[in-house]
Amino acid sequence: MRAFLFLALAAFAQVRIPVGLDAFVPVPDDNPMTGEKVTLGRRLFLEKALSRDGSISCATCHDPERAYTDAKPLSVGVAGKRGSRRVPSILNRAYGKTFFWDGRIGALEEQVLQPIVNPLEMDLTIEEALARLRQTGRYPALDERSLSHALSSYVRSILSGNSAYDRYVAGDRLALPVEALAGLRLFRGKANCAACHLGPNLSDEQFHNTGIGFRDGVFSDAGRNLVTKRPEDRGAFKTPTLRQMAERAPYMHNGSLATIEDVIEHYDKGGVANPHLDAELQPLRLTVEEKRALGQFLRALSGEVREGL
Ligand code: HEC
Ligand code: HEC
Repeated sequence: MRAFLFLALAAFAQVRIPVGLDAFVPVPDDNPMTGEKVTLGRRLFLEKALSRDGSISCATCHDPERAYTDAKPLSVGVAGKRGSRRVPSILNRAYGKTFFWDGRIGALEEQVLQPIVNPLEMDLTIEEALARLRQTGRYPALDERSLSHALSSYVRSILSGNSAYDRYVAGDRLALPVEALAGLRLFRGKANCAACHLGPNLSDEQFHNTGIGFRDGVFSDAGRNLVTKRPEDRGAFKTPTLRQMAERAPYMHNGSLATIEDVIEHYDKGGVANPHLDAELQPLRLTVEEKRALGQFLRALSGEVREGL
């Protein structure tokens, strides 16, 4: 286990934590957030020299205009190479416990170097990446560690909160329109969404099988099973945050659901039946009005997106 120092980011430089998020952000003690690292990390996040053909940066896939994901069902890297999973939103990952859809990585410091070396994403070695940054003449001398620390510090600063839902929870009883409020009650009650989508980031950071990707008796992607090798983890994926939901279609690890309404239909059916379907999923029998209310609630999870200091 890594030692973590729990730093109140709000007390730190100029970072303001949006309403609704935990004021305490876990930051590893060997990579404290500083203005310098976050600013450098932002420039690196936008740097296309970090991809083999100079065509993409982190922000190409994690687009700030789309809540840090893109509009494609599956990720597309250098030279149009297709990945097998949807680009996840990277909002509020400062609070993350594991990274990637299958949770195969345990620290953001390690995570942020993976896309650079992934042949289907940016496709460079770390040595090549560092040499390219040097050649631009625009960066201070960097090594693997300072590259990872700057990128991870910047990713930690990308936060979403202060939505109508957050203001309602904070005590503003009028913040949620009537229909969205009915949706919140369903979310916590009849529709059982809060069994997994809970806490400030609306995720338990655990892995569940909802049947997405199960077809003709098999999962196209084994998900968490790739990490644990346990048969019951086949088809289980990490519960994503639901923040800024409206701006980041399509949904799910394989981008297979195009709209919020499709997501609600998926859960209304009780997910897709398969041998390891999560026990929390049951047919919901929501009425047309209830489905609409739930949709309005999901749309009320869009608030303020902040990055940097
Ligand atoms: C070609 C598109 C693409 C590029 C470029 C890209 N990513 Fe990603 N990113 C993905 C995909 C796809 C995943 C999920 C992969 C998986 O689960 O196996 C991901 C996952 C992540 C995650 C984990 C999110 C979570 O919730 O677990 C973080 C953080 C992240 N990327 C940051 C970055 C950073 C920083 C860069 C630039 C150095 C970057 N990404 C470049 C496609 C991309
Ligand atoms: C058993 C746990 C569980 C329950 C209950 C649950 N979810 Fe999920 N949710 C997940 C997991 C896991 C994923 C990712 C599944 C995948 O991609 O294979 C997910 C994905 C989503 C997504 C897509 C997010 C994205 O970034 O693509 C939405 C939207 C969503 N859920 C909404 C809901 C709603 C609304 C309910 C209640 C009707 C609900 N969930 C109930 C675990 C759950």
